[in-house]
Amino acid sequence: MFMSRLTVVAYTFGILCFLASCAFSVFYGYKVVSHDLPAEDQTGEKYNYHFVLVPEELDNDYWRLVEEGAKKAAEEHGVLLEYAGPRQANIDEHLKTIEMSMASKVDGIITQGLSDEQFTPLINRVVEKLPVITIDTDAANSDRMAYIGTDNYYSGFLAGKALIEDTNGQANVAIITGNYYANHQQQRVQGFRDAVESEEGITIITVEESEISRVRAAEKTYQILTDYPEVDAFYGTSALDAIGIAQVVDKFRKQNQVYIIGFDSLPETLKYISKGTIQATVVQEPYEMGYRSVTMMIDLIEGKKVSPVVHTDTRIMRAADLLKRKEDEWEAGR
Ligand code: BGC
Repeated sequence: MFMSRLTVVAYTFGILCFLASCAFSVFYGYKVVSHDLPAEDQTGEKYNYHFVLVPEELDNDYWRLVEEGAKKAAEEHGVLLEYAGPRQANIDEHLKTIEMSMASKVDGIITQGLSDEQFTPLINRVVEKLPVITIDTDAANSDRMAYIGTDNYYSGFLAGKALIEDTNGQANVAIITGNYYANHQQQRVQGFRDAVESEEGITIITVEESEISRVRAAEKTYQILTDYPEVDAFYGTSALDAIGIAQVVDKFRKQNQVYIIGFDSLPETLKYISKGTIQATVVQEPYEMGYRSVTMMIDLIEGKKVSPVVHTDTRIMRAADLLKRKEDEWEAGR
């Protein structure tokens, strides 16, 4: 009798352990597949809306700024904002996160329209159920309700004009771009091409892809300098490209022979500008994009009029501008 009771207890304990481990793996498995996208708010707090921001790459410093802006607006307007997406840029995972966000019945999705081929059909499907705002990169041919971000063609054009000015119209340029397939990267390259087209002294020697990775950008730079010794200028079209280029140029002590223009004003880019390795960068406004994407989404849901295309500011920054900014900050802090 005693033995059989012990057996029952042992069995029950075993079954409980089994169930607990099943629950753990289901939960854990869900977390992995969903890129940490909780099914619903479990904090018990009440929110007005629930939005998801899907970036190209979670831990990218540029996207962390977009997240910061979005979180600030979310806080101010009682919005539960989730930041979910691929840990490293990956188009399939990106699309999957959008699908899963739609399935988990959020109130709105904010994401890039990276490519017409893959993003437009999905965005059109999502928009039948809930609002989608594109951010940073537009899928202009989709049914997305609005776009907020840089005018990517214009920003590339600006880069081209800056390069002409800084090199006196004499340069053999290598372009390192984030991805060949991404709309905004194509536009940044096209804008640049159009700006330098009529300059006889400027030739575009090659266009390579970094897959938005700094390490890849560095590898490609090394390869370009080996394969095309005539290259004396680089144009990096996504946030980490110029940093990768600068690392190699610095390492081989070619600072005075190679001109670099990049994108964004992340701390490392600014460091290389101060040092004189990077000569110029196209500044975007990721924080503002994030912030305004949330307020625009609220306006859309509440039936207010929202402009379908909102371009945030873009401008060129060089060492002199950086110095001026530091002086202004110092003045303001006195
Ligand atoms: C682009 C983003 C991209 C990031 C990659 C930025 O310049 O606007 O779309 O994900 O670079 O580092």
